[in-house]
Amino acid sequence: MTIGVVGAGTMGRGIAQVAATAGHRVLLYDNQSAGLQAAMQSLNGLFDKLVAKEKMGRNDADEILQRIEPVDRLDDMESCNLIIEAIVENLGVKQQLFSQLETFVNEDCILASNTSSLSIASLAGPCDHPGRFIGIHFFNPAALMPLVEVIPALQTSPEVLEAVQKLITDWGKVVVVTKDTPGFIVNRVARPFYGEAIRIYEEGIADMATIDWAMKTIGGFRMGPFELMDYIGNDINYTVTETVYEAFFYDPRYRPSFTQKRVVEARRLGRKSGMGYYDYREGAAAPTPTLDEGLGHQIVNRIVAMLINEAADALFWNIASARDIDLAMTKGVNYPKGLLAWADELGVQNVFNRLESLYQEYAEDRYRPSPLLRRMARENQRFYS
Ligand code: NAI
Repeated sequence: MTIGVVGAGTMGRGIAQVAATAGHRVLLYDNQSAGLQAAMQSLNGLFDKLVAKEKMGRNDADEILQRIEPVDRLDDMESCNLIIEAIVENLGVKQQLFSQLETFVNEDCILASNTSSLSIASLAGPCDHPGRFIGIHFFNPAALMPLVEVIPALQTSPEVLEAVQKLITDWGKVVVVTKDTPGFIVNRVARPFYGEAIRIYEEGIADMATIDWAMKTIGGFRMGPFELMDYIGNDINYTVTETVYEAFFYDPRYRPSFTQKRVVEARRLGRKSGMGYYDYREGAAAPTPTLDEGLGHQIVNRIVAMLINEAADALFWNIASARDIDLAMTKGVNYPKGLLAWADELGVQNVFNRLESLYQEYAEDRYRPSPLLRRMARENQRFYS
């Protein structure tokens, strides 16, 4: 089976690596020849490192690398059985690419997009054979992150969904199937991790260092929200927030914050620019957290309750199964526990009560408990038996 990857940037080269490692011939294309060269160089360097660290033998590495063929023209992909697109995040440009691909690929070639924020239906829309179109969403870095969200569009045929689920599972990935709604699972359910942390800061309940400390030491998360936003890049994180907000028809619970907008406007983009919520320049002192256990628990309880509410609401709207929602957050963003399993552990009634008291306190739609949590609390139910 030959796999085509269009776009040889951060994601495209990672996807090519995964497919070639799984034994496929991979054709890699980019409309910038320099970009394609850079991708091949970086893949070579990466396998050199794997060999040097004795994670792989030289022969195996060479065989995998030989399976990745850079191609100069898009129509060199004629023989591909699956083509995954990882080009610029722009609807018109992506639609144009798929129209072009459809002029020469075989009728049974599956076409897929790695988009994070566009709807799969809108990409499949202009296709002549939309049944073969599907979303395959990898996480960065694609070779290391185990999760892949598979997103059938309204138009996707059941056979294509089944074939893709099987193929990506064979590549050693954890596959979750999600509805074609904004943010799919991970980028939707994770919003409160950032949003509620910023809200706590904006209200003056705690400073950033204390919020990060609490989420790590008490919550068990690998990184605190502010550290993580600085790591991802505040421009990227802000764009995702804004896109999800708009795509949900301006549901107030996804509303971006001024704090987030101002750091972007001030070009404090995070680690990559030397400054974000924290100062990464040489000699800068890291702020010290308050280390107040009581306050720490208050912070974690509030953010985790909001995350659980989001996960429960995704289940309420049938975005994915409970298992897939939990897997997505542990395998896609390294959460210490699945959020629905966490709700069972804390007691659904307790989580509901926390949310209900925030809702009463603020009288804001942002804190409305999901109807599913309300029902489960009333009937004393659990997510898992
Ligand atoms: P990137 O900017 O690193 O790479 C994009 C590549 O596509 C560039 O090499 C560019 O030259 C090439 N390109 C642009 N237009 C093209 C065209 N018309 N034909 C052929 N090649 C073209 O971008 P990145 O980060 O790899 O993202 C790619 C896609 O993956 C986007 O849709 C993004 O939303 C999605 N994605 C990104 C993630 C991330 O963390 N960076 C995570 C998951 C999905």
